[in-house]
This record gives sequence, C-alpha cells and structure tokens, in this order.
Amino acid sequence: MLNFTFQNPTKIFFGKGSIENLKAVLSKDQKIMMVTGKGSIKKNGGYDQIVKALEGYDMIEFWGIEPNPRYEMCIKAVEKAKSEKVDFLLAAGGGSALDATKFIAAAMKWGSGDPWDILSKGAKIESAVPLGCVLTLPATGSEMNAGAVITRESTKEKFAFISEHIYPKFSILDPETTFTLPERQTINGIVDAYVHVLEQYITYNVNAPLQDRQAEAILMTLIEEGPKVKADPINYDARANIMWCAAQALNGTINCGVPQDWATHMIGHELTAFFGIDHAQSLAIVLPGLWQHQREQKKEKLVHYAHRVWGISDLSPEEMVDVAIRKTVTFFESIGIRTRLKDYGIKLSDCRAIVERIEKRGSKMGEHRSIGAREVGEILALCE
Ligand code: NZQ
Ligand code: ZN
Repeated sequence: MLNFTFQNPTKIFFGKGSIENLKAVLSKDQKIMMVTGKGSIKKNGGYDQIVKALEGYDMIEFWGIEPNPRYEMCIKAVEKAKSEKVDFLLAAGGGSALDATKFIAAAMKWGSGDPWDILSKGAKIESAVPLGCVLTLPATGSEMNAGAVITRESTKEKFAFISEHIYPKFSILDPETTFTLPERQTINGIVDAYVHVLEQYITYNVNAPLQDRQAEAILMTLIEEGPKVKADPINYDARANIMWCAAQALNGTINCGVPQDWATHMIGHELTAFFGIDHAQSLAIVLPGLWQHQREQKKEKLVHYAHRVWGISDLSPEEMVDVAIRKTVTFFESIGIRTRLKDYGIKLSDCRAIVERIEKRGSKMGEHRSIGAREVGEILALCE
C-alpha cells in the first residue's frame, strides 16, 4: 500500500427531513447567500424546507448556476456576495451549484489578481469563505470532497481545482429531494459515481485488499440499485443507497494508499468543453476506449474486477479483460446511457482540437502518467 494522509472534515446529515438541521449548523449572526441552479430546487421541496429552516436568518439568494457551471456566472455571484458582505455560502442543488459555490468561496478571498488562475494555473488558495450544501443530485461526490470543476465559456476550457479550504462544512443529503430527478440525470449520477470508483480501482495492484473491496461494494451496490430507481423513481431506499454510494465514491476513502487514474475524466472534460455533452455521457464514451487502449497496463485489475464484480472465472486473462469491458458497456447501455462518440453526433475528426490542446499543454495522464496527446488521439479513435 502507498503512504497516505486522510482527513475528511465534512459533517453529513442524511435522510428524510434532514434539511431542518440547517438551524443547528448556521447562525443568525451570519450573512448567508444561497447559491442555486435554474429552479429545480423549487420543484423538489428543497427550497421550501431551506426557507422554513432558516426563518429569521439573514439570507440572500443567487439563482441561475448552469450545469457545467460557467466561470462568467460565478464571477457575477462573487460580485454580489462581496457587495452584500456575505460570510457563509449555502449551495442548493446538484454538483454544478456546489462546485460553483466552492469556486465563489475561493474567489471571494482571492486578492487582486484574476481568480481564473486558480483554475487554469492551479494557483494555490490560502483561504475561502465557509460553505455548506443541500444536495439534490447524487453523482459528483462534491458534497464530501475538496474539488470543484468550472468551465470558461469564452475559451471552451473546463478545469478542476482542489483545496482543503473548500470542503463543505456540512452537507445535507435527503434522498426525497432526488425523487424529481429526470431519468437522464438519475442515470448520469449512477454512471458518474461508478466511473469515480473505477478511476481509483482499475489501475495496478498495490496489495490494498480493503480499498479494493470498498470499491467493489460501491460498484455492486450501484449495479443493483440503478435498475430499481429507474423502474420506480420514488423508491426511497434505492434513492438513499445511490446517494450514499455517490458520496462514498469520491470522498477520499477508497483512494487511500492506492494509485489513481483520472484520464477518463480529463479527456471527458475536454469532450464536454468542446461539444457540451453531459459529464457522465463523456465518461461513458471514453472509459471503454481507454481500457481497450490500456488493457496491458490495467490487466491485473481488470481481471480482478471481472471476477469480483461480475462473477466471471475460468477464462484466460485476455478473455477476462474483454468481459470486463463488455460487461461495463452493457451495464451503462442497459440503464440508458450511450457509449460511442457517434451516438452524440460527434465525429472523430471533430476531436482533433482536443488532441492539439493536450499536445500544447504537454499533459500526461493516467496512473503511470503515460497518456499524452498521441495516446489520447488513439483512445478517441477507439471511442468512435
Ligand atoms: O439547475 P437546476 O434547475 O437546479 O437543475 C439541475 C440541472 O439542470 C437538475 N437537478 C438537480 N437536482 C435536481 C434536478 N432536477 C430535478 N430534481 C432534482 N432533485 O439537474 C441538472 C444537472 O445538474 P448538475 O448539478 O449539473 O449535475 P451534476 O450533479 O451531475 O454535476 C455535474 C458537474 O459536476 C462536475 C461535472 O464536471 C459537472 O460540471 N464534477 C464535479 C466533481 C467534484 N466536484 O468532485 C467531480 C465530477 O467528476 C465532476 O467532474
Ligand atoms: Zn465525474
């Protein structure tokens, strides 16, 4: 096992009616700004419960954060929060509202320079305005992690940043608020969480059987619960299980002491930045091609995954790898997400700009840092 440091400071309130806990964690002395999307919070009961819990509190609202949150919109929120002297940010919605809130929290404390540097240059932040969250879409794990992903529309760039200062102080996860999710978002959430696990699990063996089994537990739960929630969107138990899986998939637990990949995400972010497809759709396209390309490097873990998660044995290692890839694609397609570039009207020739951009940046991805521009081009060709 590799060395690691682990600390997760986010307090979780989970379950029916848990939004009322806002009273316990926020103070009437704080000036709060709720940051949210384009209105789903009013349809899923979240907004009414927030307003009820925070009656008598000093709260203003910022609406309009879009999916794949835009830097340009975040800057408007920073200006409003600064002029209103906000000292606590409350995200309400999905990963986009929360990621935007994390960036706003960091940018509010950023000196006179351009806060875009936090994203584009990885400039380190020294502090952030404290934030919390009412999550209504299980997918990203942002509710319990130190990362955020922001898109700059004018340059078609999508960057992540990570800082311990942007962990939510608390996250409230009430599965009932997810009943209203459109099927596409429910599926996106399952696939995003599933791929988060794979990015931390399908690398190479470092003799970390606990982390392997934790990863397998999340994968197998998603495989079981996904079809249930598709068949019955108001199945509380299935919604709850998926919600806790998504948080566990990216809260820093399963990556303790193991190598991590994240190349699927990095290539996927480019597909979203250039073509506007959903985050999970980009992952469903890239992952199978990436595994095909990296099958030698990942062989041991792919064989292990085929055996442990899909119950396959008595085949050659090469056949096991094929089964691992095929079973994953079948799972994605069976719950309703397409897995090829052409399914989204994207031509391979349209992806040349992605390869050129990665070449220019000189990025090296994957657990061995062996995937550069040439390899990304080859991987995308396998995704056609
Ligand atoms: O804008 P509103 O009206 O709120 O509608 C949203 C949005 O249209 C809607 N929605 C949310 N909760 C709902 C609901 N509709 C009905 N009922 C509910 N309960 O769903 C739509 C999508 O929401 P969004 O927040 O964009 O989705 P998601 O949570 O999948 O977040 C995706 C973003 O997170 C980033 C992605 O790149 C993408 O920008 N990621 C963040 C990560 C992190 N911080 O750790 C890791 C991930 O890998 C990912 O990159
Ligand atoms: Zn993701």
